[in-house]
Amino acid sequence: MALKPGENLIPKDENGKVISDSVDLCTTWEAMEKCKDAGLAKSIGVSNFNRRQLEMILNKPGLKYKPVCNQVECHPYLNQSKLLDFCKSKDIVLVAYSALGSQRDKRWVDPNSPVLLEDPVLCAVAKKHKRTPALIALRYQLQRGVVVLAKSYNEQRIRQNLQVFEFQLTSEDMKVLDGLNSNFRYNIFTDLFPGHPNYPFSDEY
Ligand code: A2P
Repeated sequence: MALKPGENLIPKDENGKVISDSVDLCTTWEAMEKCKDAGLAKSIGVSNFNRRQLEMILNKPGLKYKPVCNQVECHPYLNQSKLLDFCKSKDIVLVAYSALGSQRDKRWVDPNSPVLLEDPVLCAVAKKHKRTPALIALRYQLQRGVVVLAKSYNEQRIRQNLQVFEFQLTSEDMKVLDGLNSNFRYNIFTDLFPGHPNYPFSDEY
């Protein structure tokens, strides 16, 4: 979602309304291709793109490089299975953010939203494997071919998260976790970017 260029990451007018910009995504993509050609980037990808937006880039006349990845919110409550299938079919890596249910930052996330790591089904799978719910949520992504980001400021949790490579979920566990999907999105951005023409989350996926 293009915003007014400048120092502010999220520029706002005097009424607190975010100021958008009209530069289109294909033009931005062409500028990113130039960054790669200039050696400024090894690979280029996108974030929060829905299928339609990905197709717009993939079908762009004169496309030089396709996106290597699409980084989107992805966790057992929003498992993105349709977008994942589409990305796999186009050889685009799906990268999961908020894989542990987000930082619950009040600026982005409704404090009344369900706490993923307290989900009883997730906790039951964790108990069975003698691992934490966080590790189950991370391993789930690994086993379905998703690159998963796990951010922590806490050394113990960073170390714990590396255990993701030490165990395996059964196909039955995977099915149970798939069953948690409710297309629930923590990061909806509607307050920040109301009516932005490139708002990506109105499409089904
Ligand atoms: P902390 O930094 O206190 O460990 P996101 O889903 O946006 O990537 O945010 C990850 C959130 O999950 C952070 O708030 C982080 O908090 C927390 N976190 C990271 N690893 C674990 C873990 N193993 N168990 C519980 N919470 C975790």
